[in-house]
Amino acid sequence: MTTRILTGITTTGTPHLGNYAGAIRPAIVASRDPQADSFYFLADYHALIKCDDPARIQRSRLEIAATWLACGLDADKATFYRQSDIPEIPELTWLLTCVSAKGLLNRAHAYKASVDKNVEAGEDPDAGVTMGLYSYPVLMAADILMFNAHKVPVGRDQIQHVEMARDIGQRFNHLFGNGKELFTLPEVVIEEDVATLPGLDGRKMSKSYDNTIPLFGSAKQLKDAVARIVTDSRAPGEPKDPDNSHLFTLYQAFSTREQEAAFRAELLGGLAWGEAKQRLFELLDNELGEARERYHALITRPADLEDILLAGAAKARRIATPFLGELREAVGLRSFREQVQVASEGKKKAAKAARFVSFREDDGFRFRLLDAAGEQLLLSIAFADGKAAGQVTKRLQSEELDLRAELNAFSVRVDGEAVAYSPEFSTDAERDAAMQRLREALAPQE
Ligand code: TRP
Repeated sequence: MTTRILTGITTTGTPHLGNYAGAIRPAIVASRDPQADSFYFLADYHALIKCDDPARIQRSRLEIAATWLACGLDADKATFYRQSDIPEIPELTWLLTCVSAKGLLNRAHAYKASVDKNVEAGEDPDAGVTMGLYSYPVLMAADILMFNAHKVPVGRDQIQHVEMARDIGQRFNHLFGNGKELFTLPEVVIEEDVATLPGLDGRKMSKSYDNTIPLFGSAKQLKDAVARIVTDSRAPGEPKDPDNSHLFTLYQAFSTREQEAAFRAELLGGLAWGEAKQRLFELLDNELGEARERYHALITRPADLEDILLAGAAKARRIATPFLGELREAVGLRSFREQVQVASEGKKKAAKAARFVSFREDDGFRFRLLDAAGEQLLLSIAFADGKAAGQVTKRLQSEELDLRAELNAFSVRVDGEAVAYSPEFSTDAERDAAMQRLREALAPQE
């Protein structure tokens, strides 16, 4: 049994070292497990909620896609795609919106935080709140439920959203499942032992604190960032305290045990901070150097990235398209054609009630074959006279039918000549189903 693991990355920024250690590296390691069926995607519809700068959205999507591939994600094994390449996602979002309680969404942290801020500032509670922000958890539920993910690894701030996806999925199952679990209910995964890196100033590394180390800048940019790590003022030769140094914590996140022990001993022995920074730079440069080259190669070939992501979307849609079809059925958005079929299957008599209707046109005599519901099954060619048309309709009811698929329609032949044609169908499957119905409608009476 494989486990389907799914997670999204909002495309508003440029990945930094903290994203790498905290999310990218562990996710890629997890995707290599033979039991894992990983779905990783760029949550670019989510990005639109927070950002109205098209250039930044576009740059971030490109950078994040290149980062994941450069870091070793195997796009053949995992399913790697952009949310916005899956039109089934917004469609499912609507189906879920219709069963999501407004009260549930009122309780979402992100929305509540905006309301609290507004109230504090004496503003209207909903000032600046878009429907995108308000419905954010429903879109996220669609991401997760669309692929029946078992596990969703996320940061702590997203736990509530995964719980809401469970709630919404459960409600949909209850309303439309007919006793069947349409949606798998996802479980949140919080990786306790994943590194939360400190930033340059010792607080959590985060874009909002402006204390990040770039992941794939040049070696020089990496060196400059490391040089800006804040340390205490102990002079060269004075012993340093590794356990109270975030420079050491950063080192630890990328070193082997032996490297870590050696670095600790050097710091205790009075290594100068400048030297210590050089050691950290070398370690990071060594860990990231090859990936950085792959990254820059990828980013200069955006058309190749486009192909990779479109192939990922095609793979994802092989699941999403038929599944959404099932869900549309479940809520009652069904083809009328099928409904007719169901009615006539239930009552053989009704199917038998197919009737020929002949009529005269400028170019001669034709007939139509209508099913019980009056839907046209066939339209004949023009015959010289009514008698010729009548003979053909008799033969169609008494002889074995000769039907041939013709692109998206089919013809009926008598003595090898096409004498009538079906309407056009949008898929081969619909056409084949109609051929079957015609056979039933014209089968000789027992
Ligand atoms: N909201 C998530 C974040 O900001 C990103 C995301 C979107 C996501 N859809 C998802 C995560 C589905 C997990 C599953 O981090």
